[in-house]
Amino acid sequence: EGEVYKYYAEGEWCKSSSGKSVPIINPTTRKPEYKVQACTQEEVNKVMEGAKAAQKAWAKTPLWKRAELLHRAAAILKDNKGPIAECLVKEIAKPAKDAVTEVVRSGDLVSYTAEEGVRILGEGKFLVSDSFPGNERSKYCLTSKIPLGVVLAIPPFNYPVNLAVSKIGPALIAGNALVLKPPTQGAVAALHMVHCFHLAGFPKGLISCITGKGSEIGDFLTMHPGVNCISFTGGDTGIAISKKAGMIPLQMELGGKDACIILEDADLDLVAANVVKGGFSYSGQRCTAVKVVLVMESVADAVVDKVNAKVEKLTVGPPEEDCDVTPVVTESSANFIEGLVMDAKEKGATFCQEYRREGNLIWPLLLDHVRPDMRIAWEEPFGPVLPVIRISSVEEGIHHCNASNFGLQGCVFTRDINKAIMISDAMETGTVQINSAPARGPDHFPFQGLKDSGIGSQGITNSINMMTKIKSTVINLP
Ligand code: G3P
Repeated sequence: EGEVYKYYAEGEWCKSSSGKSVPIINPTTRKPEYKVQACTQEEVNKVMEGAKAAQKAWAKTPLWKRAELLHRAAAILKDNKGPIAECLVKEIAKPAKDAVTEVVRSGDLVSYTAEEGVRILGEGKFLVSDSFPGNERSKYCLTSKIPLGVVLAIPPFNYPVNLAVSKIGPALIAGNALVLKPPTQGAVAALHMVHCFHLAGFPKGLISCITGKGSEIGDFLTMHPGVNCISFTGGDTGIAISKKAGMIPLQMELGGKDACIILEDADLDLVAANVVKGGFSYSGQRCTAVKVVLVMESVADAVVDKVNAKVEKLTVGPPEEDCDVTPVVTESSANFIEGLVMDAKEKGATFCQEYRREGNLIWPLLLDHVRPDMRIAWEEPFGPVLPVIRISSVEEGIHHCNASNFGLQGCVFTRDINKAIMISDAMETGTVQINSAPARGPDHFPFQGLKDSGIGSQGITNSINMMTKIKSTVINLP
């Protein structure tokens, strides 16, 4: 029957009393690869109780000690990059080299978080009262940042390790307890990562990892009275969570339709390299992938030709062979992508390559002459298919970008820096990249989405601050 990976609670590896498991299907073989415990609501309750108790003591643990443990976890994580990356390859079909990069980046993120935490949490504010009208200098106010309590972290399948530690690190350094609900695809990689924190020696109950079916424990977790903050990255589920969650801070990143606006004076070789990297790396399964190309008509043919030449060179196949384009995460995801492609075909888009699919593997496809009546002009495929819309003015490009319900990132290619800045100001997205494809990193940069792309800002510093509250003590002088 094969091993069922245990979940992590109270510093121990546990079997669920449900006796049930959740299978993880390898996207490449489409066969079950691993199994994880299907935790019950009762088990969630226990984890929440344990987290609450552990957090009380952790908040009193000196900041430098919290940082020391995080540094230790980061080092162990990096030492274990091989086996963790192997899980990423099998669970989410991430190309082998990118899988290793994800783990190394995660270790670096945890170390940086520890360093940033001791700096920003090591300082508070001192205010005096007589700056406000009517007051004498009779009140001194001391402020510091205190933890929120228990943080619930829900990362997505595309970075099960990295987008977990980007929540775990800030939560822990700030003195919170952390409950992780990993995505099903990526759960075993996440459990391995949690094991690194276990080996580092964090106190029992401070960090736990609950696995199971969203339908059974999803709402129960997100609506649990023991949760004091939710940090979520993923899709539409985030909108549902935000409607159901209580009066607690939310940090959400829910995808995007990142536009790439290309002006006539752009360096077209730079454009092509970034469109291909931005559109097709990890088969387009990144929130920050280039998801629509908006190119000035006069350079459109040249851009399409240059991009096609590079698309032709992309390797397509299994993640073990480190191919550029690998199978998408699930069959339903592949079906969804195919639906967008077929809709565009019916409505007259030009296919620059032949559409080809085998199982979950979809060959990279550039769709030219896409028009606004096509679904792919607006929807997020999360796959290796990229629409090109030809525009006759920059305003048309900005208008298309801003008409989207998403607002994560965008990019603009031009040699005119003044124009680039004006376009950046006009684009309703959390970040605009000038002369490069959208990307979240480096991981200490602010990362945020406008509109349906999210709530709050991430990035190491912002996440630490978001997972704290200000506490003030006022000294009233006689
Ligand atoms: O899809 C997740 C999003 O955070 C992208 O991260 O590093 O690929 O830009 P990155």
